[in-house]
Amino acid sequence: MLPLSYKISFYRRIHMKKASIYLDRAFTVGTVDPRLFGSFLEHLGRAIYGGIYEPTHPLADEDGFRQDVLDLVKKLQIPIVRYPGGNFVSGFQWEDSIGPKASRKKRLSLAWKTTETNEFGFHEFMKWCKKTNISPMYSVNLGTRGADAARNIVEYANHPGGSYWSDLRIQNGSPDPFNIKLWCLGNEMDAPWQTGQKSAVDYGKTAREAAKLMKLVDPSIELVACGSTGPLIQTFGDWELTMLNECYDYVDYVSLHRYYENPDDDTANFLANTLDMDDFIHTVSCLCDSIKGKKHSKKTLNLSFDEWNVWYHSKPLDPLIQAAHCWETAPPLLQDVYTFTDALMIGGMLITLLSHADRIKIGCLAQLVNVIAPIMTADNGPAWVQTIFYPFAHVSLFGRGTVLQTLVDSPRYDSKDFCDVPFISAIAVSNENGDLTIFCLNREEQDNFLLSINLRDFPGYDLAEYLQLSHPDRNAVNSQAFPDLVKPVSGKTGTFENGYYQLEIPPLSWNVLRFKSINSKDN
Ligand code: AHR
Repeated sequence: MLPLSYKISFYRRIHMKKASIYLDRAFTVGTVDPRLFGSFLEHLGRAIYGGIYEPTHPLADEDGFRQDVLDLVKKLQIPIVRYPGGNFVSGFQWEDSIGPKASRKKRLSLAWKTTETNEFGFHEFMKWCKKTNISPMYSVNLGTRGADAARNIVEYANHPGGSYWSDLRIQNGSPDPFNIKLWCLGNEMDAPWQTGQKSAVDYGKTAREAAKLMKLVDPSIELVACGSTGPLIQTFGDWELTMLNECYDYVDYVSLHRYYENPDDDTANFLANTLDMDDFIHTVSCLCDSIKGKKHSKKTLNLSFDEWNVWYHSKPLDPLIQAAHCWETAPPLLQDVYTFTDALMIGGMLITLLSHADRIKIGCLAQLVNVIAPIMTADNGPAWVQTIFYPFAHVSLFGRGTVLQTLVDSPRYDSKDFCDVPFISAIAVSNENGDLTIFCLNREEQDNFLLSINLRDFPGYDLAEYLQLSHPDRNAVNSQAFPDLVKPVSGKTGTFENGYYQLEIPPLSWNVLRFKSINSKDN
């Protein structure tokens, strides 16, 4: 006679929703470029001042950098940071940010209606990058300025010496060139709010000439052209075709930007937005390839998804803060407080990015500290991490290697804006040690899901660690008072049955399964 507990568990499993994941070592998507796990720091709100830089803070180092923030940033293992904007860069004069601090000019930042003191400038950023082991992704102003200012900063940053700008850098205390490899040709130049907005033809020509001059100064650099602000802007598509027609041969990447919202607290629909993101990436790839075809070019343009995140919590508040703090330095703008559900969406977006690893070489979670960010700080107080910190950290740490085509057989649902949304999305990455990591989002809201992972092509593998982010309250947040309300748990769970690894995952959950081979180099 079977024990009662066995019978109950058997019947539970029979009635549980089920999904299967199939993998084959030979079927790969591509190699992950580590720059996919980049982030973004803009002179906006408290990202710089009061974020990474606060000289009066008890934990500030000799350069005024907050050590507590630095430590949290290091935990994310971010390879690149886009800087100094964003909308900010389109009115920025980079020369204001060099030289003795006391004589740096204060300027109005029209993008955010703030005053930029330039106390934290170019050399300070480069120093911060060195301390965090991050490479800069520097954006130039193609809004209110153009090719001349752009080629000058390349000369300032990268030319060894013996010219006006490179000698000025040496005079300013940096004898060695910085060799900044990656540059953005402006920011969201299609957007009506951008200072110096351009038509697609005008931008394409400006980008081409800036690219030409910048690469004449340093042919080793790589350049990102501005794609559309997002797929919802009316000129999307036309913008890519027209501007690339002008500058295709001169640039290396096209940018994509996308932020998602959940204003109606509709979890099912919100989490389904990864389908939109997938479609967006696919469409931009096709737009690039159509210009490749038209130009009979041998070059395939890769993608730089250099702004992505969830952004909506602060939107109703920001105009009020802007009005109350007009022209102040570092007002508390775009300080979204992220819920547990937002963290799930970030997990879903990361799965989507990985599933396009063949084409997307650069990604920037926008942004890094205080401004729509995974890390928050209080002035003169502590730093803590938001819910979205965790899925990003998991994928940055364990998602490097080769992405495998990950076939997920899952039941589906319809939501307000989407049809046929799989409850389960997953992606598998195998790394150079042979470790296999599966990232999995469960969109089901009520019940556990039974997940079966076909590991027949991975004999000798066993689960080394299972990380799970789940929470009974989908609107739970971390805060200064309760910094650890939402955080992942680690453990081991599941069993092998006929080459399938089976485990139950909770409703609305982010799951990371780390499998190791008994022959793994780590063992
Ligand atoms: O990341 C915040 C802002 O969003 C950036 O400045 C801009 O590029 C985008 O519109």
